[in-house]
Amino acid sequence: MEVKTSLLDNMIGVGDMVLLEPLSEDSFLDNLKKRFDHSEIYTYIGSVVISMNPYRSLPIYTPEKVEEYRNRNFYELSPHIYALADEAYRSLRDQDKDQCILITGESGAGKTEASKLVMSYVAAVCGKGHEVNKVKEQLLQSNPVLEAFGNAKTVRNDNSSRFGKYMDIEFDFKGDPLGGVISNYLLEKSRVVKQPRGERNFHVFYQLLSGASDDTLRKLKLDRDFSKYNYLSLDSAAVNGLDDAANFRTVRNAMQIVGFMEDEVQSVLELVAAVLKLGNIEFKPESRCNGTDESRVKDKNDLKEMCELLGIEQSVLERAFSYRTVEAKMEKVSTTLNVAQAYYARDALAKNLYSRLFSWLVTRINESIQAQTKARHKVMGVLDIYGFEIFEDNSFEQFIINYCNEKLQQIFIELTLREEQEEYVREGIEWTNIEYFNNAIICDLIENNQNGILAMLDEECLRPGTVTDETFLDKLNTICADHQHFESRLNKNSKFLNDHSLPHNCFRIQHYAGKVLYRVEGFVDKNNDLLYRDLSQAMYKANHSLIKQLFPEGNPAKVNLKRPPTAGFQFRASVGTLMRNLQTKNPNYIRCIKPNDKKASHIFTDSLVCHQVRYLGLMENVRVRRAGYAFRQPYEPCLERYKMLCKRTWPHWKGPAREGVEVLMADLQIPAEEIAYGRSKIFIRNPRTLFFLEEKRKQCLQDLATLIQKIYRGWKCRTHFLLMKKSQIVVAAWYRRYAQQKKYRNIKSATTVVQSYTRGWQARKLLRELKYQKRCEEAVTTIAAFWHGTQARRELRQLKEEARNKHAVSVIWAGWQGTKVRREYRKFFRANAGKKIYDFTIQRIIQKYFLGLKSNMPSMSPIDKKWPARPYGFLDGVHTELRKIFHHWRCKKYRDQFTEEKKAVYEEKLEASEIFKGKKALYPSSVSQPFKGDYLEISKNPKYQKLNSAVDEKVLLADVVNKINRANGKGTPRIFLLTKKNFVLADQKTGQVKASIPLPDVTSVSVSTQKDGFFALKLKEGSASAVKGDFLLSSEHLIEIITKLHRIGATAADREKLKVDISDEFLVQFKQDKVCVKFIQSSPKNGNSVSCKRKNNRLLEVSVPTSP
Ligand SMILES: Nc1ncnc2c1ncn2[C@@H]1O[C@H](COP(=O)(O)OP(=O)(O)OP(=O)(O)O)[C@@H](O)[C@H]1O
Ligand SMILES: [Mg+2]
Repeated sequence: MEVKTSLLDNMIGVGDMVLLEPLSEDSFLDNLKKRFDHSEIYTYIGSVVISMNPYRSLPIYTPEKVEEYRNRNFYELSPHIYALADEAYRSLRDQDKDQCILITGESGAGKTEASKLVMSYVAAVCGKGHEVNKVKEQLLQSNPVLEAFGNAKTVRNDNSSRFGKYMDIEFDFKGDPLGGVISNYLLEKSRVVKQPRGERNFHVFYQLLSGASDDTLRKLKLDRDFSKYNYLSLDSAAVNGLDDAANFRTVRNAMQIVGFMEDEVQSVLELVAAVLKLGNIEFKPESRCNGTDESRVKDKNDLKEMCELLGIEQSVLERAFSYRTVEAKMEKVSTTLNVAQAYYARDALAKNLYSRLFSWLVTRINESIQAQTKARHKVMGVLDIYGFEIFEDNSFEQFIINYCNEKLQQIFIELTLREEQEEYVREGIEWTNIEYFNNAIICDLIENNQNGILAMLDEECLRPGTVTDETFLDKLNTICADHQHFESRLNKNSKFLNDHSLPHNCFRIQHYAGKVLYRVEGFVDKNNDLLYRDLSQAMYKANHSLIKQLFPEGNPAKVNLKRPPTAGFQFRASVGTLMRNLQTKNPNYIRCIKPNDKKASHIFTDSLVCHQVRYLGLMENVRVRRAGYAFRQPYEPCLERYKMLCKRTWPHWKGPAREGVEVLMADLQIPAEEIAYGRSKIFIRNPRTLFFLEEKRKQCLQDLATLIQKIYRGWKCRTHFLLMKKSQIVVAAWYRRYAQQKKYRNIKSATTVVQSYTRGWQARKLLRELKYQKRCEEAVTTIAAFWHGTQARRELRQLKEEARNKHAVSVIWAGWQGTKVRREYRKFFRANAGKKIYDFTIQRIIQKYFLGLKSNMPSMSPIDKKWPARPYGFLDGVHTELRKIFHHWRCKKYRDQFTEEKKAVYEEKLEASEIFKGKKALYPSSVSQPFKGDYLEISKNPKYQKLNSAVDEKVLLADVVNKINRANGKGTPRIFLLTKKNFVLADQKTGQVKASIPLPDVTSVSVSTQKDGFFALKLKEGSASAVKGDFLLSSEHLIEIITKLHRIGATAADREKLKVDISDEFLVQFKQDKVCVKFIQSSPKNGNSVSCKRKNNRLLEVSVPTSP
């Protein structure tokens, strides 16, 4: 729901001066100051907005603010220029009323800013779309262009508008902008040639010189240096906070947006350059022979450049600066110009050139921004016109400006009163006449057609003979002497005769805003605004289309001998048009006030503001507004705001709002004369009454706030209580549930125990019964089974008896039958069939046997013991034979694969098996060991190089053996080498040969049947080797050594086969003694190794541990 607010909420001071109580100038100023100090720069007088210039940017023009004020009633929010703009726009759009926004105030008060704020607000809230946006953009961009050419820095304002501007913005029926029309009033053209101290020329000159590119300046024949131009004042050429170069770019961009063509922009810049050049043309006097003074251009360079720029023939312009041609009827008279006149002519040309250029710009902008459709438009006019001016030295311009302001004040009073009156009539309230100061009399003093000041000035200007400013003042003195608002030192009005403060060449007008003293000097000239025809004709001759356009009167074909209308006349006419225009529209006022002269923020100079308040007639304004009724408000919002003050209207009033308000006012006992009931509004005569209502409302709001608080607190406590109650119930319910659950679980477990006992007891009882029953049943069954068994066995016996009998009968029968059949067929069987069947069967059986054998053949490995079982006993012999044949064949195949070396190895192995298999327990462990022979790698190992060389034959075996000492039975390691011819024993460490025995000397070798590696090499008795006796050695490779020895013996032709004795007791010859070596088995407990001990002289006992 939208919250309804009011202007009266959170007010600083009063937002509407109409409510000021008491109303006095002091309270008025105090209110303005108070609000200004709180950055509230806007204040209302009814529907008029007073705007104080803050001289700083305030955050009150944001898009959010625009949204806040959009479609809100005027008095709904705190005063703002947006409220006025919104009100104007909405009544234009919704009520089809043309609007005008009149912005007044003195120079620097913020009129131009205000007009831009209004335009930007309207642009923000009106329709959208490509076309509409383009129109908006063009309208907004016309401002920078006009400001560049029409604004200048003055002592009062760094961006002072030096022309009056009225802009009509046109809208279609939907409120979308269609275009606009700009009217300009009286550009202060004197500024072009001369600027007061501390001020400068129009912005465009400085912008052009600072911002244009070097190339552009070269084309325009200009120099960037300001000091080179006489028309540019130097003391304030640079303005703080103004970036001329950047502004030049902005202006060019704006011109482009508005729709200026590139060549048009160029022409405009050429004209600006021409004005600057013009200022640099200087003259020198020259006396002619007839005695008259003449002038000559001093340095023709600038003249030449200017002529080049504008395409004018230099001689034509030069002549125009030297002569003046006056045409009267058929006559043409040429007079020379002296230096002063030449300067006058130059300045007049510069001023005209510039002011005509400005007017052309306005026309050109209008061409671009004018509405494209002919349909009926709604119009919103924005008037940003120079404010009332009172300077120390006031001239023709101030007179004209103040006249315009006088007219505006008049229309303001008229329209405000009219509006007030119309509202009263509309609301059906009796109209009481309001006393106010009507400035029509002053307007009349200036503009009266017969004896108005402007009319007299024109008359003076047109009069033949010598006309000076003094003659004009004389005329004023005679004609206006009696006027109560006119004063002069010489007028006939006796009451001012003694006023010596009034200088001689001045007159004073008592304007509505104060007295202004005008100096008459220049009035006639400025009113005439003369440009010598020679100059306008010279301009017309220019080869420059824009210049030609600006000086149409220079066209010789259209020579008009009539004088052009005077400046005063023109201005009066345009003001008249403007006034008529404004009168047809609904006015909205913005009254701008300047808080100080220093252009500074936060400074409020009372005297300055007071002065403005006076001449803007603001007090007057408040009085007019309050003359009847100070405050009015439609019934609905009024009832809504104050309904809480009466029990009958609070909280809801069912009937019409007006009745509600009546009831409310009656209840509050507001005196009848204080209020009037209009058709839709209530009118309150005195602000006091309104404040009384507001005060009551405030109190009531406090009470209401307390009530609301009370109710809220009650509600909150109640809600809390109810919540607690609800929670308590929940908690209690949970607790009860828990307690009941616990109780239930207890009862349940007790019941279960009781039940289980009962059930146990019952079950046991039942079990007992069942057991008893079962025992009975079993007894019965046993008895029955025995009985049935007896019966069955008896029966079986009988049946068996019967079956045996039957079988015996059938066997006997079958035997008998068989005997009979055999006896019958015997003779056939015996002769043929028996043998055939037998042969066939045998054949089949053998066939089947062979086929079966084929598919079940064992593998080709000779050690594979598998052989399929024979199917019939009679095949035993064949089967064994086949197995043997297969095995032999398989062995042969296996042998065929062998190489010679492998064969030798296997032969060795075979020989080993022949010697030892089944005889010595060490043999099985040697089967898997390959006979490596050279265990010491004697030929490769450098350690045994010497030993190797000592043996000249190939070493068949090299190993380390233990030579058993016969004295103690201990072993000494020795290298044992075997060659084909002998064996060698050598020291293991040194490799020294200890003994080398030719093999033919070895007769036999003895070994035990056990697992030990002992062997005795017995030598041939009587041989040279046998001197020391036999060798008792022990080696891990016993089997290999003996096999190799045996093989050598077997293959050698020169000796007998080596005899191998395998026995656990054998004799060994040690020198003379024969010692018996006896092998006994010892238990493994005594150590795992074989030990040899000398028992006595004749016995060496070797104990060999039995295998575990
Ligand atoms: N509402 C505002 N917020 C901020 N600054 C402002 C506002 N109004 C005016 N100003 C400041 O005051 C300066 C003068 O304002 P502006 O040019 O509108 O005065 P003016 O009344 O048009 O004067 P002139 O009659 O000389 O043209 C502006 O340049 C700007 O700096
Ligand atoms: Mg301005």
